[in-house]
Amino acid sequence: MSLLEVKNLRVRFDTRRGPVQAVEHVSLRVERGELVALVGESGSGKSVSALALLSLLPRPPAVVETGEAWFEGRNLLALGERELRRVRGAQIALVPQDPNTALHPLYTIGDQIVEALRLHRELSYAAARELAAQALAEVGVPAPRERLDAYPHELSGGLRQRAMIAMAIALEPKLLIADEPTTALDVTVQAQILKLLARLRRERDLGVLLITHDLGLVAQYADRVGVMYSGAIVESGPTRELFRAPAHPYTRGLLASARSLDGPQGAKLESIGGLPPDPLAPPPGCAFAARCAFAVEACTRARPPSLPPGGLRALASSGVDVDIAAERRVACFEHERVLARAGDLA
Ligand SMILES: Nc1ncnc2c1ncn2[C@@H]1O[C@H](COP(=O)(O)OP(=O)(O)O)[C@@H](O)[C@H]1O
Ligand SMILES: [Mg+2]
Repeated sequence: MSLLEVKNLRVRFDTRRGPVQAVEHVSLRVERGELVALVGESGSGKSVSALALLSLLPRPPAVVETGEAWFEGRNLLALGERELRRVRGAQIALVPQDPNTALHPLYTIGDQIVEALRLHRELSYAAARELAAQALAEVGVPAPRERLDAYPHELSGGLRQRAMIAMAIALEPKLLIADEPTTALDVTVQAQILKLLARLRRERDLGVLLITHDLGLVAQYADRVGVMYSGAIVESGPTRELFRAPAHPYTRGLLASARSLDGPQGAKLESIGGLPPDPLAPPPGCAFAARCAFAVEACTRARPPSLPPGGLRALASSGVDVDIAAERRVACFEHERVLARAGDLA
């Protein structure tokens, strides 16, 4: 059994201008000790997916239309608020993209970590404070004991981000969902955080769902990756395979633009020409078709299903999806042509 298995998540926002399908088709899983990355342009539905799993979206306007999220034998999307509160933090920790949703401005960093610890575990104040200081030290906060008495606004963006990560790992969760946790950090600290996560994966069997823009981090640390575009995971698979031979034109575009960039940071995500479709008026076909060099007429007519590479032909001949548990999936009618050109990316 996977640590986390998300099936067919769909989330809509009912806005004043009309319904917005923010997440249309997200299925993913994270095993114990595994790091799965979710990448994609801003607005593709990464944060909404993460927040939906923990029922942290404001409802309304959010509506979770369909989906299951199995964690340790329980469907998170069917849990009541009381049960969820026990899961959040203690079993699944979230490092949200927006630090303001995680850190209270009126309490010191130390008191916030201590409170979270004591809410879920029987610890004296002094023992909890000691654990909080240790957690801050682990994420590389200098002078951690003094920092415990700081208020969030007294810390730099980078230190605040590290404090959030410290708070998340202090509770020793089984799953960490980290939404762009290293964006405000310099490269050295980024590496330090990712190395810490690698150690926690080994020592505690921690599963990590890492949302990031940084393909360099993905290449170096992720076991598997899901690529999101316009609310859907358009391609997923083991990192090395997907980087070596991307099957979706969007993934291909991401990798090509990352590789064309030089500089010490290397693979930062650059946007591809054109814009994603207006979420209020999505096209009937593939959401990427208008920007896609591989698009054919069929792409503007129907949404391509997410299948193992080559699965479309199998589907056409036998009518069944051959391998529903496939590691590698792609949602593109023309992926065989894309795969055939994998060589000219290198
Ligand atoms: N509260 C909201 N009301 C309406 N639309 C929203 C809300 N939050 C997010 N969205 C929409 O959902 C889509 C996905 O957003 P998000 O998950 O934050 O993207 P990402 O994290 O990939 O950058 C976007 O089109 C965004 O505008
Ligand atoms: Mg986001």
